[in-house]
Amino acid sequence: MLTILTYILLSPWAPFMPDAKSDFAEKIDLLYGFIWWAMTFFFVLIVAAMIYFPYKYRRGAQPTLTPRITHNLLLELTWSGIPALLILVIAFWGINLYVRAYVPPGDNYEVNVTGKQWLWQFEHTGGKASGLAESGELHVPMGKPINLVMSSMDVIHSFFLPDFRVKADVVPGRYTNIWFDPREPGEYQVFCAEYCGDSHSGMLAKVIVQTPEEFEKWYKGIIIFDPTVDKGKEYYQKAGCVTCHSVDGSTLVGPSFKGIFGTPQPLTNGTSVVADENYIRESILQPQAKIVKGFEGQQMPSFQGVLNDSQLNSIILYIKSLKQ
Ligand code: CUA
Repeated sequence: MLTILTYILLSPWAPFMPDAKSDFAEKIDLLYGFIWWAMTFFFVLIVAAMIYFPYKYRRGAQPTLTPRITHNLLLELTWSGIPALLILVIAFWGINLYVRAYVPPGDNYEVNVTGKQWLWQFEHTGGKASGLAESGELHVPMGKPINLVMSSMDVIHSFFLPDFRVKADVVPGRYTNIWFDPREPGEYQVFCAEYCGDSHSGMLAKVIVQTPEEFEKWYKGIIIFDPTVDKGKEYYQKAGCVTCHSVDGSTLVGPSFKGIFGTPQPLTNGTSVVADENYIRESILQPQAKIVKGFEGQQMPSFQGVLNDSQLNSIILYIKSLKQ
């Protein structure tokens, strides 16, 4: 009860919503708040009547006899007209926002989004960073609406960006899209909002909105940098390795990274392979090439074109550092 009250007090017009981070999000909140408060008003009205009338007309209250009333035209028109009008207002308001949510403005910054079990990959298709891919993080410059063209490699996922109040299913074999118009630089959480298997809840990403200068610095920096263990750890988390591979020896969807470097790994075809740099690189780029025994049937996505050589080297260094 107290929590519910807190949420209402924190954002009185649109309770339970996080801060709106775009004009569109504010427009959604306006409609949401309208529905929420109209609903609350009628809930209180109806429940109050439900409590009051049984009390007023209780046995023993000696009610006076009322005349026989068959109908009341004005009353009936009122109780049909007001709800009908409310519903029409909500319908047209809603359709208007719905169309707006899925039709991006012409001049936009386009990004291809791919959902896979269990990570989000992003490919910049417009602007200076065209061709650049990332995983688990999407950096975008301020100034233009961001248009996401989305598809799935396996099952149905759903791309959900609550701060901007946009969400759409991501479906294999077709494209869906949403767009948003960030107001200020910052980090915005992405969720997968469609149950898609074991690690559905770990299928997270961040949208990082930067000023054009910061963005330029970022995309230049990502192409060349020195591989280090720390960066490897960072990419292990950002690229989504973390959802399937532990570093403490426990078995998740895939084998743990702990202590594998330099040791022989038994394969599904009965042979074995030493987990050296080449094997790790191959496993990241062509995951189905050599599968460790016991992990048959796991559909790890390829990171070909998503992680560049420098990032791959960092991840290899990180796996090396988990030797014992
Ligand atoms: Cu992807 Cu849930």
